[in-house]
Amino acid sequence: MDRMDVIETIAGIQLPGHLHTAQSLQYAQEFQFQEGDIVIISYPKSGTTWMQEILTLIYSQGDTEVATSVPNWERAPWLEHTFFKDLLKEGEGPRIITTHLPSELLAPALQNSKAKVIYVARNPKDVAVSFYYFHKMAKFLPDFDSFTEFLQKFQDGQVHYGSWFQHVKGWYAQKTNLGLFYITYEALQKNFRHSLKKLCKFLGCPMYSRELDQIQNHCKFPVMSQNVMVNYTLIPHKIMDHDQSKFMRKGIVGDWKEHFTDEQNVEFDKLFQEKMSDCGLQFVWSL
Ligand code: A3P
Repeated sequence: MDRMDVIETIAGIQLPGHLHTAQSLQYAQEFQFQEGDIVIISYPKSGTTWMQEILTLIYSQGDTEVATSVPNWERAPWLEHTFFKDLLKEGEGPRIITTHLPSELLAPALQNSKAKVIYVARNPKDVAVSFYYFHKMAKFLPDFDSFTEFLQKFQDGQVHYGSWFQHVKGWYAQKTNLGLFYITYEALQKNFRHSLKKLCKFLGCPMYSRELDQIQNHCKFPVMSQNVMVNYTLIPHKIMDHDQSKFMRKGIVGDWKEHFTDEQNVEFDKLFQEKMSDCGLQFVWSL
């Protein structure tokens, strides 16, 4: 497949038009959430796949059978890709649904639903780095000559799914309204067990210690990166080229330090301050 640099503005956000049509967005916006639905919302590269795996394991009581035999996109389908429509048909709950859509587009559909909403955020410097490598391997996204070039676009919000700042702030503003469970990639890294317990409590899924152990072991980066049901190696090479970069790349906090120059870091901090000071959200930049 040739590189597709057809990022279009659909419903006000930058999306690859070949992946997201106006119809697929309309489908998402009109989606009927049902009681028992669990919705994972995140900006790309923030730990979405990790959360899909954690939720799969929570709902299988730590049993790894489903997680090791069904691809993650079938167990936790994407709302905005119409080709998953069949998987999202009303049915036995709980349905785990995944989306990167911004709050402007999706919050109204969730407002009157009883779905449980989980928002996963990650510090934007690491998101930018991870996203840059994802653009290298994902042939359906434009390629960039350098990280510097990509970072500029990322800061300007001229990338797939638009501005990180707007995404995080927009959803965080819905925290009370939607009873949303907000969690960060860094919190999962720092204290997985604690985060897992909080998540189980939010979901109303009490777990035995042995089950928590199983989830914790299975969701470790080295284990997940070997699980073909979740590491995207089942996707044809011409769509995701793992020779360019692995999907499960490094899985650490602070890789941005290997990529940002001092000048880029200063500029980014300034931008972060400007954009985020009104919402009070803090991020952990290294562990
Ligand atoms: P890196 O590229 O920094 O390694 P998403 O699923 O939202 O696309 O996010 C992908 C990022 O999450 C990648 O980051 C990937 O390695 C990381 N990731 C996935 N599973 C992980 C895990 N179990 N532990 C830590 N990081 C994980």
